[in-house]
Amino acid sequence: MTEKATLTDKATLTVGDRSIELPVITGTENELAVDITSLRKETGMVTLDPGYVNTGSTLSSITYIDGENGILRYRGYPIEELAERSNFVETSYLLIKGELPNSEEYEKFRQKLRVHSMIHEDLKHFYDGFPSSAHPMAILSAMVCSLSTYYPEAVESEEDTDLTVCRLLSKVRTIAAYSFKKSVGQPFIYPNNSMSYCANFLYMMFGMPTEQYQPDPEVEKALNLLLILHADHEQNCSTSTVRMVGSSQTNLFACISAGICALWGALHGGANQRVLEQLEYIHESGGNVEKFVAGVKDKSEGQRLMGFGHRVYRNHDPRAKIIKEACHNLLNHLGVSDQYLDIALRLEEVALSDEYFIERKLYPNVDFYSGIMYRAMGIPTNMFTVMFALGRLPGWIAHWLEMRDSPDNRIHRPRQIYTGEKLRHYPA
Ligand code: CMC
Repeated sequence: MTEKATLTDKATLTVGDRSIELPVITGTENELAVDITSLRKETGMVTLDPGYVNTGSTLSSITYIDGENGILRYRGYPIEELAERSNFVETSYLLIKGELPNSEEYEKFRQKLRVHSMIHEDLKHFYDGFPSSAHPMAILSAMVCSLSTYYPEAVESEEDTDLTVCRLLSKVRTIAAYSFKKSVGQPFIYPNNSMSYCANFLYMMFGMPTEQYQPDPEVEKALNLLLILHADHEQNCSTSTVRMVGSSQTNLFACISAGICALWGALHGGANQRVLEQLEYIHESGGNVEKFVAGVKDKSEGQRLMGFGHRVYRNHDPRAKIIKEACHNLLNHLGVSDQYLDIALRLEEVALSDEYFIERKLYPNVDFYSGIMYRAMGIPTNMFTVMFALGRLPGWIAHWLEMRDSPDNRIHRPRQIYTGEKLRHYPA
């Protein structure tokens, strides 16, 4: 058993009549961890922690979360301040480089993103191989991995790294917009590099070759906000995937492609699509929120309330709080009254006053209201997780760089406890 280690820098683990001392690591916000690196060597034992609920996989200086108090900070800056004052490009720079850019650095970064916004013409033909019903997350992952065939050179010097990072940030936006165009059978729209990052994305999504299209600045602002709120979230499933795949020295494009696949699942980034589908289901089956919540609690159908709950946040998700307000503002601005928002508000109210959710500390997460905003922007439901990926990209990149440059970087290789058959012999 590990002794409490608040006042000492060592924890003592006693197994049978043997005790060993393990170092205690303290983070900058006084988070404590027992370093078990020497455990196997000293005792022959490993730790067991399915789902890594209680396992720190790395030291990281990118994002800080205090789940008990609903705190989220990128590089020390509170998410509320970034959401109000920054934009997605600046926040991406902050995550990737560690500091906010000065005006010259910012301009240089923006310029690089502009220059690399197009994808190779040959790459466009890849879209012809996908059925129009293809899920855009499958397309996104395949296309991002395919970028490595066009840019196979190693990313080693600072200059190479900058170039690859900017290519990725800029081209993923174009790839994402093209996967939407593919799904609706419309021609691809080349990026308009006189526009900002977010405006350009909206332009490629909703522009037509035959008409002028100017994105609504309020929609652009809302998109910036959503992308900032999704930009990083420390060692979540997809980010850990990026780091794990990268630990074998796989190239950045392949790592991000793997991260996109991990994000796709319903319990992670795929939840935003599921939230909307759930709201649709409730609406179509008569709008009885109480009945739906009772079904969730009953568990017989294995249905969860999507957009609720979080592994780390046990009080509130600060992103959800910001999104909820932004959602109202956007809908007001667009003059949209969405019956799904009414259902979501009611769902939240019913769930938050229900003992089942209170006891388990389940609150709305980032995905609960984001879909309603994307819907108001005209983004179809199956693109929601692609929007999450677009936002999470700078975080994945920052973690990949941190992993690559860490002196402690070793190939990720968890242990297991074998529970299968004992030795037996092949029949004669
Ligand atoms: N609806 C109903 N019950 C839930 C929910 C939910 N959304 N989430 C957790 N529970 C229950 C769960 O059934 C379990 O109950 P019991 O103790 O009776 O067995 C208890 O709460 C603990 O759940 P858990 O699965 O052990 O919690 P976890 O930390 O492993 O899972 C989660 C976290 C986010 C996967 C989970 O809360 C969930 O499935 N939520 C719905 C999907 C969702 O919205 N995902 C997006 C997460 S935020 C975006 C992101 O970062 O990916």
